[in-house]
Amino acid sequence: MSWLNVPQKKLVKVVLSVFTLILILHFLTTGSSKPNQIQHNFKRKSLVQRERQDAVRREFLHAWTGYQDHAWMADVLMPLSGGRREQFCGWSATLVDALDTLIIMGLDEEFQEALNATLTIDFADSIGHCNVNLFESTIRYLGGLMAAYDLSNDARILPKLVQLGDMLHLAFNTSNGMPCTMCNLATKDAVIESSENAALADVGSLYLEFARLSQVTGDEKYMHTIDVLSEVFARSQNDSSIPGLWPENLSPRVVDGPQSYDFARKSSRYALGAMSDSAYEYLVKAHLFMGKTRHVYGSMWELASRQIKQYLLFRAFIPGANDTDIIFPGIATRDLGVRETLLETRTEHLACFAGGMFAMAARIFDNPDDFYIGEQITNGCVWAYQKSPTGIMPETLTLLPCSTDDGQQCEWSDEYWTVQSNRSENCMNGNCQYHRFPPGFLQVKDPSYKLRPEAIESVFIMWRMTGDEYWREVGWEMFENIIEHTRSPFGHAALMSTMEVYQRDTYERGLMVRKVLARQMDDMESFWFAETLKYFYLLFSEPSLISLDEWVLNTEAHPFRLTEGIRGF
Ligand SMILES: *[C@@H]1O[C@H](CO)[C@@H](O)[C@H](O)[C@H]1NC(C)=O
Ligand SMILES: *[C@@H]1O[C@H](CO)[C@@H](O)[C@H](O)[C@H]1NC(C)=O
Ligand SMILES: *[C@@H]1O[C@H](CO)[C@@H](O)[C@H](O)[C@H]1NC(C)=O
Ligand SMILES: *[C@@H]1O[C@H](CO)[C@@H](O)[C@H](O)[C@H]1NC(C)=O
Ligand SMILES: *[C@@H]1O[C@H](CO)[C@@H](O)[C@H](O)[C@H]1NC(C)=O
Repeated sequence: MSWLNVPQKKLVKVVLSVFTLILILHFLTTGSSKPNQIQHNFKRKSLVQRERQDAVRREFLHAWTGYQDHAWMADVLMPLSGGRREQFCGWSATLVDALDTLIIMGLDEEFQEALNATLTIDFADSIGHCNVNLFESTIRYLGGLMAAYDLSNDARILPKLVQLGDMLHLAFNTSNGMPCTMCNLATKDAVIESSENAALADVGSLYLEFARLSQVTGDEKYMHTIDVLSEVFARSQNDSSIPGLWPENLSPRVVDGPQSYDFARKSSRYALGAMSDSAYEYLVKAHLFMGKTRHVYGSMWELASRQIKQYLLFRAFIPGANDTDIIFPGIATRDLGVRETLLETRTEHLACFAGGMFAMAARIFDNPDDFYIGEQITNGCVWAYQKSPTGIMPETLTLLPCSTDDGQQCEWSDEYWTVQSNRSENCMNGNCQYHRFPPGFLQVKDPSYKLRPEAIESVFIMWRMTGDEYWREVGWEMFENIIEHTRSPFGHAALMSTMEVYQRDTYERGLMVRKVLARQMDDMESFWFAETLKYFYLLFSEPSLISLDEWVLNTEAHPFRLTEGIRGF
C-alpha cells in the first residue's frame, strides 16, 4: 500500500482491526440459527461423542441380536423369556420399525438382511385377519417403510409401501370419508364404517405419512383424503367445550358433509398425553412439511397453542421451582356450557414430547416465547428423571400446583409439603405411602417405565436447536440409568416401577453380580428400536445426521425428507 501516506495507513489498520473485532464478536455471539433454520448454527467441525455413540449402538445390537435369534419377524421380542408376541397383526412390527435406525447407525449388513425379510411381508395376509390399528400401523409400519425408502432409495421398498398404503387408505372408504380406526381391512368388499368413538391422536396424526406417500408415488388420492380430514379438524376446532382444543375422544361417524358439530364433543377432557399427544405435534410438523401449499395446519396450531398455554400447562410446587424454569403439562376438564375448567396436575411421560414441539414451533412460527415454554417443559421431564429413585421418570406423576391459597406460592417449604402431601390420596386409610417418594412427587398412579422416548426426544431437540452441551450431559445420564435398570438377557425390559428398587442378581460379562435394580416386565415395544435408541444415538452424533432442517420425524421418529419448495417456513 505504498501509495498511501502514513496517516492513511494508520487509518486502514484501525478500520481493519475494528472490522476483525466485529467479525470475531459476531462469531462468538451467534447463539442463534439463521433465519429459516431450526437447528443451531453449529460452528465446530466435529461434534461426535464417539464413545457415547458406540455405547448406544452396542445396546441396540444387544437387543437386535435378541430379536434376530429369538423372535425374528415377530411383532415383538419378549426380553426376559426370549419369547415372541404379536401385537399389530403380525406384520413384524419390530423389524419394520427398526429399519431406518439400522441405516442411521451404519449397520449396513443388518439392514440388508432386515430389508430382505421385510420384502417378504405380505400386508394382505394378517394373523387371524385382525382388526388393523390404523394409527399404530400408519406411524410404525407405513412410517418405518417410508423412512427406510427415503434413507436408502432402494426401489424394492416402493411396491411394499403402496401395498400397505392402499390397504390403510381403505380405512377411509366410508360413507363420510372419516376413518375407521380399528377395522378389518383385508376382507374383500367389506363395508367399512367410520368409528363412532376414537382417540384424538388416532385420527389426528395421519397427515405426514399419507402426504409423503403422495409425494413419493405421485398419486394424489392419499393427499385428498387427509385434506378432507384436516378440514374437519379445522372446522370443529371451536366446537369443543374449550374452543381451540379437541378433547381426548372424537366421534368421526357424526361428521356429515360440512356438518361436524358433535365431532369434537365426545368428551370433556383435554391433555397432551395418551390419546391426544401427536395430534398437536402433527399440526406443527405438517405445517413444516407442506405449509406453503396447506395453510390449515398452521392456523390450527396458532389457535391450539394459545389454549394449551392457557389451560394445560402449570407450574408445580417442587424443590427449586422458585427458579421458575420448570413447567408441566396437565389434564383439563370442562363440561360443555360451563365456564370453570378443572386442572388435574398429573403429568405423563408421554407428554414430554411437548418440550420439543414448542421449541420447534417457536422457530417455525417465529414466536421466540414458545421456545422458552419448550425448554421449561423439557426441564420438568429432566427433573422427574433426576429425582426418581431409579433416575427414570414414571409413566404418570401427580404434582402439587404452585398456586395455592394466596395464588402464587411457589417457594419450597418442607412444612407446607408435609402437610399437603399428608392430605393426598396416598395417605388414605392411614397408610401413608408418600414417605417413599422424593419431595415434589405427590403421587405416582402408574410408576412403570415402558421404554418410552418422549423425554429424550425433547432433550435431543433442545440440543440440536441450542448446541448447548448441557443437554448431552443430562441425556447421557438418562441413558446410563435406563440401561442399568432395563438391560435383560435378550434385550431391554420395561420396568414395573421406577420408584422402587430391589436386590437382584444379574449377569455382567458372564459373571453373576448382585445389584439394586428396578423390577422388570417381559415387554419391549418396537419403539425402543425406532425411537428411544435412535434419539440417544442422534444426540451424540454429528448434528448434520438427520438434520432437523432436512428431515421431519414422524411421531415414531421415522425421518421423512423435506421438500424444499413446499416447506412452510
Ligand atoms: C438380500 O437379497 C439379495 C437379493 O435376493 C441378495 O443378493 C443378498 O445377498 C441378500 N442379503 C442378505 C444380507 O441377506
Ligand atoms: C369402497 O367401499 C365400497 C362399499 O362401500 C366398495 O364397493 C368398494 O369396492 C370399496 N373401494 C375399494 C377401493 O375397495
Ligand atoms: C375459532 O375462534 C378463533 C378465536 O375466537 C377465531 O380466530 C377462529 O377463526 C375460529 N375458528 C373457526 C374455525 O371458527
Ligand atoms: C423466590 O422467588 C422470589 C420472587 O422471585 C424471590 O423474592 C425469593 O427470594 C426467591 N426465593 C428463593 C429461596 O430463591
Ligand atoms: C398426617 O395426617 C394424620 C391424620 O390427619 C395425622 O394424624 C398425622 O400426624 C399426619 N402426619 C404428618 C407427618 O403430618
